[in-house]
Amino acid sequence: MAVLVTGGLGYIGSHTVVELLNDGFEVVIVDDLSNSERFILKNIEEITGKKPFFYPFDLRRRELLTQVFDAHKIEGCINFAASKAVGESQLKPVDYYENNLFTLINILQEFKERGISNFIFSSSCTVYGQAEKMPIDENAPLKIPESVYGKTKQMGEEIITDFAKAYGRKISLLRYFNPIGAHPSGKLGELPMGIPNNLVPYVMQTAAGIRERLNIWGDDYDTEDGTPVRDYIYVVDLAKAHVSALKKLMQIGDETIIDIFNLGTGKGVSVLEVVKAFEIANDVKVPYQICARREGDITVAYANVDKAEKELHWKSETSLEESLKTVWKWQLYLDSQTV
Ligand code: UFG
Repeated sequence: MAVLVTGGLGYIGSHTVVELLNDGFEVVIVDDLSNSERFILKNIEEITGKKPFFYPFDLRRRELLTQVFDAHKIEGCINFAASKAVGESQLKPVDYYENNLFTLINILQEFKERGISNFIFSSSCTVYGQAEKMPIDENAPLKIPESVYGKTKQMGEEIITDFAKAYGRKISLLRYFNPIGAHPSGKLGELPMGIPNNLVPYVMQTAAGIRERLNIWGDDYDTEDGTPVRDYIYVVDLAKAHVSALKKLMQIGDETIIDIFNLGTGKGVSVLEVVKAFEIANDVKVPYQICARREGDITVAYANVDKAEKELHWKSETSLEESLKTVWKWQLYLDSQTV
């Protein structure tokens, strides 16, 4: 059974490809390498001892996508391919709408025409904005996201839901909280492309001496230590949730299914707690300074994961410290590649 994984050489995509291959799926990757490198493919092969099919092109090229569907018996798709930098999305809104939504529509057109079901979409807890109640469950009201990136996720969810309803298909919208960590082998992780925006890659580079110090964006929030609280989910655990969500869809008959799952640990952790946990886990120092708040940041977000536990038989298994150890292993691997 072949599964199309778009953005399969990206951060979450590459970890999910490994889990799919380990589970016996045939995997067809389409990735334009805009935010990845070819060595990730080689490393996936080393880790799994298996070879996924790989097509390097931009999914806006519908004619190339059609050829992939002609060449393989695709029975499902996990759609990771998207631009994801929140700040950049504000500066390049049209590019973000084009890249994140045209590509999605092209895949759905192929699904529609060929009668394929089982579509899984990478969504984000950003669709909840600052939720009123913690932990956040799947019924929490959606808010119009502040960033264009967030809007593309919310619009994507709507497009896919309408697709499922109109054509009687099975879909799953996975709302990630904050994915962190790297593969235990140290050979897959989040590639540093320029100055990191996200906390853990920035912490990693600060510990490695690439950045002088971490800027903590505000310690005057209404939380225990004043820094914002998030739900940091280990990327391999997250990858496994995709396999469970896909299998669930594949096991159900032909009726319309619209699944929505929050994927997190269920635990809120502050920025300062992440920094301390990283220092302890890896026996390194992370110099930091407290700065003004970053625009658009919310105070607190962590998931209610009961639904995923019950319906996907999945839960996060890896502690914060363990996942932060893999981050350091990944940094050491990157260092060894550039020497
Ligand atoms: N932070 C710092 N310094 C940094 C980077 C981050 O203090 O250099 C803080 C942020 O202020 C925030 C926390 O660390 O309080 C986490 O920040 P991230 O950028 O790692 O993650 P966010 O929760 O802001 O963003 C994530 C995803 C986005 C998504 C958003 C909302 O990265 O894709 O959640 O769902 F849109």
